Amino acid sequence: MYESFYNLRAKPFQLSPDARFFYNSRGHKRAMSYLRYGISQGEGFIVVLGGVGTGKTTMVQALFDQLHDDGVVAAKLVTTQLEADDLLRLVAASFGLPDEGASSKASVLKQLEAFFIDKSRQGKQVLLVIDEVQNIPMKSLEELRMLSNFQLGGTALLQIFLLGQLEFIKTLQGKGMEQLRQRIIASHYLGALERDEVKGYIEYRLTAAGWQGDPSFDESAYDEVFSYTEGVPRKINTFCDRLMLFGCLEEIHAFTAGVVLKVASELQGEMAYAQNPDLTVPVRKGTKVSQQLVEMEQRLCLLEDKVDEFSGGLKSQRSLLNKLWSSS
Ligand SMILES: Nc1ncnc2c1ncn2[C@@H]1O[C@H](COP(=O)(O)OP(=O)(O)OP(=O)(O)O)[C@@H](O)[C@H]1O
Ligand SMILES: [Mg+2]
Repeated sequence: MYESFYNLRAKPFQLSPDARFFYNSRGHKRAMSYLRYGISQGEGFIVVLGGVGTGKTTMVQALFDQLHDDGVVAAKLVTTQLEADDLLRLVAASFGLPDEGASSKASVLKQLEAFFIDKSRQGKQVLLVIDEVQNIPMKSLEELRMLSNFQLGGTALLQIFLLGQLEFIKTLQGKGMEQLRQRIIASHYLGALERDEVKGYIEYRLTAAGWQGDPSFDESAYDEVFSYTEGVPRKINTFCDRLMLFGCLEEIHAFTAGVVLKVASELQGEMAYAQNPDLTVPVRKGTKVSQQLVEMEQRLCLLEDKVDEFSGGLKSQRSLLNKLWSSS
Protein backbone atom coordinates (compact mmCIF):
# COMPACT_ATOMS: atom_id res chain seq x y z
CA MET A 1 0.00 0.00 0.00
CA TYR A 2 2.76 2.45 0.91
CA GLU A 3 5.12 1.32 -1.87
CA SER A 4 3.73 3.74 -4.45
CA PHE A 5 3.64 6.63 -1.96
CA TYR A 6 7.39 6.17 -1.34
CA ASN A 7 8.19 5.12 -4.91
CA LEU A 8 9.37 1.64 -3.98
CA ARG A 9 9.24 -1.28 -6.38
CA ALA A 10 8.67 -3.93 -3.69
CA LYS A 11 7.65 -4.33 -0.08
CA PRO A 12 10.86 -3.82 1.91
CA PHE A 13 9.85 -5.45 5.19
CA GLN A 14 8.09 -8.68 4.33
CA LEU A 15 8.09 -11.40 6.94
CA SER A 16 8.94 -14.37 4.76
CA PRO A 17 12.66 -15.15 4.57
CA ASP A 18 13.98 -13.88 1.23
CA ALA A 19 17.66 -14.18 0.36
CA ARG A 20 17.44 -11.14 -1.98
CA PHE A 21 17.04 -8.98 1.11
CA PHE A 22 19.81 -10.69 3.06
CA TYR A 23 21.85 -8.19 5.07
CA ASN A 24 25.22 -9.57 6.06
CA SER A 25 25.43 -8.27 9.64
CA ARG A 26 28.48 -9.03 11.79
CA GLY A 27 26.64 -11.92 13.46
CA HIS A 28 25.33 -13.34 10.19
CA LYS A 29 28.76 -13.04 8.64
CA ARG A 30 30.32 -14.94 11.52
CA ALA A 31 27.62 -17.63 11.48
CA MET A 32 27.97 -17.92 7.71
CA SER A 33 31.71 -18.44 8.03
CA TYR A 34 31.07 -21.31 10.45
CA LEU A 35 28.80 -22.87 7.85
CA ARG A 36 31.40 -22.35 5.15
CA TYR A 37 34.02 -23.87 7.42
CA GLY A 38 31.73 -26.88 7.82
CA ILE A 39 31.45 -27.24 4.07
CA SER A 40 35.22 -27.10 3.73
CA GLN A 41 35.55 -29.88 6.31
CA GLY A 42 32.88 -32.00 4.64
CA GLU A 43 32.00 -34.03 7.72
CA GLY A 44 30.34 -33.91 11.10
CA PHE A 45 27.78 -31.43 12.37
CA ILE A 46 27.75 -27.64 12.50
CA VAL A 47 25.23 -26.18 14.95
CA VAL A 48 23.88 -22.63 14.67
CA LEU A 49 21.42 -21.61 17.36
CA GLY A 50 19.81 -18.26 17.96
CA GLY A 51 16.83 -16.36 19.31
CA VAL A 52 13.46 -16.36 17.56
CA GLY A 53 13.44 -14.28 14.37
CA THR A 54 17.16 -13.57 14.28
CA GLY A 55 17.57 -14.76 10.69
CA LYS A 56 18.70 -18.40 10.79
CA THR A 57 16.40 -19.53 7.99
CA THR A 58 17.14 -16.47 5.84
CA MET A 59 20.85 -17.04 6.25
CA VAL A 60 20.62 -20.64 5.07
CA GLN A 61 18.63 -19.50 2.05
CA ALA A 62 21.35 -16.99 1.25
CA LEU A 63 23.96 -19.73 1.64
CA PHE A 64 22.04 -22.06 -0.68
CA ASP A 65 21.96 -19.31 -3.30
CA GLN A 66 25.75 -19.09 -3.13
CA LEU A 67 26.28 -22.86 -3.22
CA HIS A 68 24.96 -23.53 -6.71
CA ASP A 69 28.35 -23.37 -8.35
CA ASP A 70 30.34 -24.92 -5.53
CA GLY A 71 29.72 -28.58 -6.36
CA VAL A 72 27.57 -28.99 -3.26
CA VAL A 73 24.29 -30.89 -3.40
CA ALA A 74 22.24 -29.40 -0.60
CA ALA A 75 18.81 -30.11 0.85
CA LYS A 76 16.91 -28.53 3.70
CA LEU A 77 14.39 -30.05 6.06
CA VAL A 78 12.17 -28.12 8.42
CA THR A 79 11.29 -30.56 11.10
CA THR A 80 8.22 -30.72 13.20
CA GLN A 81 7.84 -33.63 15.59
CA LEU A 82 9.20 -36.08 13.03
CA GLU A 83 9.57 -39.67 14.11
CA ALA A 84 12.76 -41.47 13.15
CA ASP A 85 11.46 -43.46 10.13
CA ASP A 86 9.57 -40.47 8.74
CA LEU A 87 12.69 -38.40 9.09
CA LEU A 88 14.75 -40.76 6.93
CA ARG A 89 12.01 -40.81 4.29
CA LEU A 90 11.87 -37.04 4.30
CA VAL A 91 15.63 -36.76 4.00
CA ALA A 92 15.45 -39.06 0.95
CA ALA A 93 12.60 -37.01 -0.54
CA SER A 94 14.40 -33.73 0.09
CA PHE A 95 17.30 -35.00 -2.05
CA GLY A 96 14.77 -35.84 -4.76
CA LEU A 97 14.91 -39.62 -4.32
CA PRO A 98 11.75 -41.49 -5.35
CA ASP A 99 9.43 -42.61 -2.56
CA GLU A 100 9.36 -46.38 -2.72
CA GLY A 101 6.08 -46.76 -0.87
CA ALA A 102 6.07 -49.09 2.09
CA SER A 103 9.82 -49.59 1.95
CA SER A 104 11.54 -50.50 5.19
CA LYS A 105 13.90 -48.25 7.08
CA ALA A 106 16.80 -50.44 5.94
CA SER A 107 15.92 -49.94 2.28
CA VAL A 108 15.58 -46.15 2.69
CA LEU A 109 19.02 -46.14 4.30
CA LYS A 110 20.40 -48.16 1.38
CA GLN A 111 18.81 -45.80 -1.10
CA LEU A 112 20.40 -42.84 0.68
CA GLU A 113 23.81 -44.45 0.91
CA ALA A 114 23.79 -45.27 -2.81
CA PHE A 115 22.87 -41.65 -3.55
CA PHE A 116 25.68 -40.29 -1.34
CA ILE A 117 28.24 -42.63 -2.92
CA ASP A 118 27.09 -41.65 -6.39
CA LYS A 119 27.50 -37.92 -5.60
CA SER A 120 30.87 -38.51 -4.01
CA ARG A 121 32.07 -40.30 -7.16
CA GLN A 122 30.92 -37.30 -9.19
CA GLY A 123 33.16 -35.19 -6.93
CA LYS A 124 30.19 -33.56 -5.22
CA GLN A 125 29.67 -32.90 -1.57
CA VAL A 126 26.31 -33.60 0.04
CA LEU A 127 24.89 -31.23 2.63
CA LEU A 128 21.78 -31.68 4.72
CA VAL A 129 20.37 -28.74 6.68
CA ILE A 130 17.88 -29.37 9.47
CA ASP A 131 16.03 -26.20 10.40
CA GLU A 132 13.95 -25.82 13.58
CA VAL A 133 16.04 -28.60 15.10
CA GLN A 134 14.68 -27.84 18.57
CA ASN A 135 11.52 -29.73 17.52
CA ILE A 136 13.25 -32.95 16.62
CA PRO A 137 12.82 -35.97 18.91
CA MET A 138 15.96 -37.58 20.34
CA LYS A 139 15.42 -40.80 18.37
CA SER A 140 15.39 -38.88 15.12
CA LEU A 141 18.61 -37.13 16.09
CA GLU A 142 20.12 -40.54 16.55
CA GLU A 143 19.12 -41.42 12.98
CA LEU A 144 20.88 -38.30 11.75
CA ARG A 145 23.99 -39.32 13.60
CA MET A 146 23.86 -42.70 11.90
CA LEU A 147 23.56 -40.97 8.52
CA SER A 148 26.65 -38.95 9.28
CA ASN A 149 28.56 -42.23 9.68
CA PHE A 150 28.38 -43.14 5.99
CA GLN A 151 31.85 -43.16 4.50
CA LEU A 152 33.63 -44.07 1.29
CA GLY A 153 37.35 -44.77 1.40
CA GLY A 154 37.68 -43.02 4.75
CA THR A 155 35.85 -39.87 3.59
CA ALA A 156 32.53 -38.85 5.11
CA LEU A 157 29.69 -38.77 2.62
CA LEU A 158 27.36 -36.35 4.36
CA GLN A 159 27.73 -33.04 6.14
CA ILE A 160 24.90 -31.90 8.42
CA PHE A 161 23.97 -28.42 9.67
CA LEU A 162 21.60 -28.12 12.61
CA LEU A 163 19.80 -24.81 12.99
CA GLY A 164 17.32 -23.81 15.60
CA GLN A 165 16.45 -22.08 18.79
CA LEU A 166 18.58 -21.94 21.86
CA GLU A 167 16.50 -24.49 23.77
CA PHE A 168 18.11 -27.19 21.61
CA ILE A 169 21.13 -26.92 23.88
CA LYS A 170 19.16 -28.73 26.59
CA THR A 171 18.55 -31.62 24.21
CA LEU A 172 22.21 -31.70 23.27
CA GLN A 173 23.23 -31.78 26.90
CA GLY A 174 20.89 -34.69 27.57
CA LYS A 175 21.89 -38.21 28.42
CA GLY A 176 22.69 -40.35 25.41
CA MET A 177 23.77 -37.35 23.31
CA GLU A 178 27.49 -37.83 23.88
CA GLN A 179 28.07 -39.49 20.51
CA LEU A 180 26.34 -36.68 18.67
CA ARG A 181 28.13 -34.04 20.73
CA GLN A 182 31.46 -35.54 19.75
CA ARG A 183 30.62 -35.12 16.08
CA ILE A 184 29.92 -31.40 16.36
CA ILE A 185 32.88 -29.69 14.73
CA ALA A 186 31.71 -26.11 15.37
CA SER A 187 28.78 -24.33 16.95
CA HIS A 188 27.73 -20.72 16.91
CA TYR A 189 25.15 -18.51 18.58
CA LEU A 190 23.39 -15.96 16.35
CA GLY A 191 22.33 -12.92 18.35
CA ALA A 192 20.26 -9.85 17.52
CA LEU A 193 21.61 -6.84 15.58
CA GLU A 194 23.45 -4.04 17.35
CA ARG A 195 22.39 -0.40 17.15
CA ASP A 196 24.55 0.57 14.13
CA GLU A 197 23.47 -2.59 12.33
CA VAL A 198 19.79 -1.74 12.76
CA LYS A 199 20.38 1.34 10.64
CA GLY A 200 22.40 -0.70 8.12
CA TYR A 201 19.69 -3.38 8.04
CA ILE A 202 16.82 -0.97 7.47
CA GLU A 203 18.66 0.96 4.77
CA TYR A 204 19.81 -2.24 3.08
CA ARG A 205 16.29 -3.65 2.88
CA LEU A 206 14.86 -0.33 1.73
CA THR A 207 17.53 -0.02 -0.96
CA ALA A 208 16.81 -3.58 -2.15
CA ALA A 209 13.22 -2.39 -2.63
CA GLY A 210 14.26 0.63 -4.70
CA TRP A 211 14.52 3.28 -1.95
CA GLN A 212 16.02 6.63 -2.95
CA GLY A 213 16.01 8.34 0.44
CA ASP A 214 12.25 8.81 0.81
CA PRO A 215 11.28 8.44 3.61
CA SER A 216 14.34 9.59 5.51
CA PHE A 217 15.15 8.35 9.00
CA ASP A 218 17.07 10.53 11.43
CA GLU A 219 19.50 9.00 13.94
CA SER A 220 17.04 9.35 16.83
CA ALA A 221 14.47 7.42 14.81
CA TYR A 222 16.96 4.54 14.45
CA ASP A 223 17.64 4.72 18.20
CA GLU A 224 13.96 4.25 18.93
CA VAL A 225 13.51 1.43 16.42
CA PHE A 226 16.46 -0.32 18.05
CA SER A 227 15.10 0.08 21.55
CA TYR A 228 11.59 -1.05 20.55
CA THR A 229 12.71 -4.11 18.57
CA GLU A 230 15.88 -5.00 20.51
CA GLY A 231 17.58 -5.49 17.16
CA VAL A 232 15.64 -8.66 16.29
CA PRO A 233 15.20 -8.66 12.48
CA ARG A 234 11.67 -10.09 12.46
CA LYS A 235 10.56 -7.48 15.00
CA ILE A 236 12.24 -4.76 12.93
CA ASN A 237 10.34 -5.91 9.86
CA THR A 238 6.98 -5.93 11.59
CA PHE A 239 7.66 -2.57 13.15
CA CYS A 240 9.02 -0.83 10.05
CA ASP A 241 6.14 -2.12 7.98
CA ARG A 242 3.75 -0.37 10.36
CA LEU A 243 5.93 2.70 10.46
CA MET A 244 5.86 3.01 6.67
CA LEU A 245 2.10 2.48 6.63
CA PHE A 246 1.67 5.19 9.25
CA GLY A 247 4.02 7.48 7.33
CA CYS A 248 2.01 6.97 4.16
CA LEU A 249 -1.33 7.62 5.87
CA GLU A 250 0.00 10.75 7.60
CA GLU A 251 1.99 11.82 4.51
CA ILE A 252 5.29 11.86 6.40
CA HIS A 253 8.54 11.85 4.44
CA ALA A 254 10.95 12.22 7.37
CA PHE A 255 10.86 9.78 10.28
CA THR A 256 11.92 11.21 13.63
CA ALA A 257 11.96 9.70 17.13
CA GLY A 258 8.54 11.28 17.67
CA VAL A 259 6.98 9.44 14.74
CA VAL A 260 8.62 6.15 15.75
CA LEU A 261 7.36 6.50 19.32
CA LYS A 262 3.86 7.26 18.10
CA VAL A 263 3.78 4.02 16.10
CA ALA A 264 5.38 2.10 19.00
CA SER A 265 2.70 3.34 21.34
CA GLU A 266 -0.06 2.37 18.88
CA LEU A 267 1.40 -1.12 18.59
CA GLN A 268 1.71 -1.46 22.35
CA GLY A 269 -1.89 -0.39 22.68
CA GLU A 270 -2.95 -3.03 20.17
CA MET A 271 -0.94 -5.66 21.98
CA ALA A 272 -2.45 -4.73 25.33
CA TYR A 273 -5.86 -4.99 23.69
CA ALA A 274 -5.05 -8.37 22.11
CA GLN A 275 -3.96 -9.70 25.49
CA ASN A 276 -7.06 -8.31 27.19
CA PRO A 277 -9.87 -7.74 24.68
CA ASP A 278 -12.23 -6.70 27.53
CA LEU A 279 -10.48 -3.35 27.56
CA THR A 280 -12.88 -0.93 25.91
CA VAL A 281 -10.21 1.76 25.73
CA PRO A 282 -7.06 -0.17 24.89
CA VAL A 283 -4.39 2.41 25.52
CA ARG A 284 -5.38 5.29 27.70
CA LYS A 285 -7.41 3.98 30.64
CA GLY A 286 -5.70 1.58 32.97
CA THR A 287 -2.45 1.58 31.00
CA LYS A 288 0.76 0.89 32.82
CA VAL A 289 2.88 3.79 33.97
CA SER A 290 5.63 2.74 31.54
CA GLN A 291 3.18 2.91 28.65
CA GLN A 292 1.96 6.32 29.71
CA LEU A 293 5.57 7.48 29.83
CA VAL A 294 6.14 6.22 26.30
CA GLU A 295 3.08 8.17 25.18
CA MET A 296 4.23 11.32 26.95
CA GLU A 297 7.71 11.01 25.48
CA GLN A 298 6.22 10.50 22.06
CA ARG A 299 4.01 13.61 22.37
CA LEU A 300 6.99 15.57 23.62
CA CYS A 301 9.08 14.51 20.64
CA LEU A 302 6.32 15.44 18.20
CA LEU A 303 6.10 18.81 19.97
CA GLU A 304 9.86 19.25 19.68
CA ASP A 305 9.69 18.45 15.98
CA LYS A 306 6.98 21.06 15.54
CA VAL A 307 9.00 23.65 17.50
CA ASP A 308 12.05 22.91 15.31
CA GLU A 309 9.92 23.28 12.20
CA PHE A 310 8.41 26.50 13.53
CA SER A 311 11.74 28.03 14.54
CA GLY A 312 13.20 27.07 11.12
CA GLY A 313 10.28 28.91 9.51
CA LEU A 314 10.80 31.93 11.77
CA LYS A 315 14.49 32.08 10.90
CA SER A 316 13.85 32.09 7.17
CA GLN A 317 11.12 34.73 7.56
CA ARG A 318 13.46 36.88 9.64
CA SER A 319 16.22 36.66 7.03
CA LEU A 320 13.68 37.52 4.31
CA LEU A 321 12.61 40.57 6.33
CA ASN A 322 16.25 41.59 6.84
CA LYS A 323 16.84 41.36 3.10
CA LEU A 324 13.74 43.48 2.43
CA TRP A 325 14.85 46.08 4.99
CA SER A 326 18.34 46.34 3.56
CA SER A 327 17.11 46.59 -0.03
CA SER A 328 14.47 49.29 0.78
N1 LIG B 1 20.33 -10.94 7.86
C1 LIG B 1 19.09 -10.66 7.44
N2 LIG B 1 18.90 -9.93 6.33
C2 LIG B 1 17.67 -9.63 5.88
N3 LIG B 1 16.55 -10.02 6.49
C3 LIG B 1 16.65 -10.76 7.60
C4 LIG B 1 17.93 -11.11 8.14
N4 LIG B 1 17.76 -11.82 9.25
C5 LIG B 1 16.43 -11.92 9.39
N5 LIG B 1 15.76 -11.29 8.42
C6 LIG B 1 14.31 -11.15 8.29
O1 LIG B 1 13.74 -11.33 9.58
C7 LIG B 1 12.65 -12.23 9.54
C8 LIG B 1 12.94 -13.47 10.37
O2 LIG B 1 14.00 -14.19 9.78
P1 LIG B 1 14.07 -15.79 9.83
O3 LIG B 1 12.74 -16.40 9.57
O4 LIG B 1 15.21 -16.18 8.97
O5 LIG B 1 14.46 -15.97 11.37
P2 LIG B 1 14.69 -17.32 12.16
O6 LIG B 1 15.85 -17.11 13.03
O7 LIG B 1 14.74 -18.47 11.20
O8 LIG B 1 13.35 -17.36 13.03
P3 LIG B 1 12.72 -18.62 13.81
O9 LIG B 1 13.52 -18.77 15.07
O10 LIG B 1 11.30 -18.21 14.09
O11 LIG B 1 12.81 -19.81 12.91
C9 LIG B 1 12.40 -12.52 8.06
O12 LIG B 1 11.45 -11.59 7.58
C10 LIG B 1 13.72 -12.25 7.40
O13 LIG B 1 13.53 -11.81 6.10
MG1 LIG C 1 13.59 -20.16 11.02
